[in-house]
Amino acid sequence: MSGLPAPVVILISGRGSNLQAILNETRTGRLPIEIRAVISNNRTATGLQHAAAAGIPTEVIEHRSFPERTQFDNALMQAIDRYQPRLVILAGFMRILGTEFIRHYAGRLLNIHPSLLPAFKGLDTHARALAAGAREHGASVHFVTNDLDGGPVIIQAKVPVLADDTAETLAARVLEQEHRIFPLAIQWAAEERLTLRNGQVLLDGGVQPEQGFGPLPARHAGVTK
Ligand code: GRF
Repeated sequence: MSGLPAPVVILISGRGSNLQAILNETRTGRLPIEIRAVISNNRTATGLQHAAAAGIPTEVIEHRSFPERTQFDNALMQAIDRYQPRLVILAGFMRILGTEFIRHYAGRLLNIHPSLLPAFKGLDTHARALAAGAREHGASVHFVTNDLDGGPVIIQAKVPVLADDTAETLAARVLEQEHRIFPLAIQWAAEERLTLRNGQVLLDGGVQPEQGFGPLPARHAGVTK
């Protein structure tokens, strides 16, 4: 690695709690990234305020302004590339991105998904985990490919599902883990410690277990590298 912080652009659509966790870790110096911009497809995303409060440039590119999905993707790519990021981070970005966009950032595009992938791809993961009677649930950070929520997993964290859980209580327990594993995965990527080989993620050249690094033990356990 170059020794310089890795330039990144972060895409959000809403609340921005993962963005805030990334900002916090960057501030401590543990996360060697330079957040060059935060871009949202939604001008009311509260995460934009977190970015602005941290002095980070923000942009809004509303998907509704474009008749075609590819036009939105192209406008987004142009905006992102002006910042010349090495990594592009999807932190609660709620638009499906097209083939060309994903190809353009192949191996540099990370997403967090609130389930233990490959279980519960798509939306409403917490309610679906409860409805399925899952005993465990969690979150996954993965590289983005054209297989929606199906790209190679970098790290997962799991939590127990409790008897009296609602989708909200379960979501809160998972979110706490998201805020731990997303900065860690971004750190590994920024330090150039991740490689993709035959669709599998390797950390420091080592072979990764099928389910990623983890699943980590439940909530109070420390993250180990
Ligand atoms: C998180 O649950 C994330 O896993 C999912 O969208 C949510 C975003 O939350 N992709 P926030 O905006 O980071 O608070």
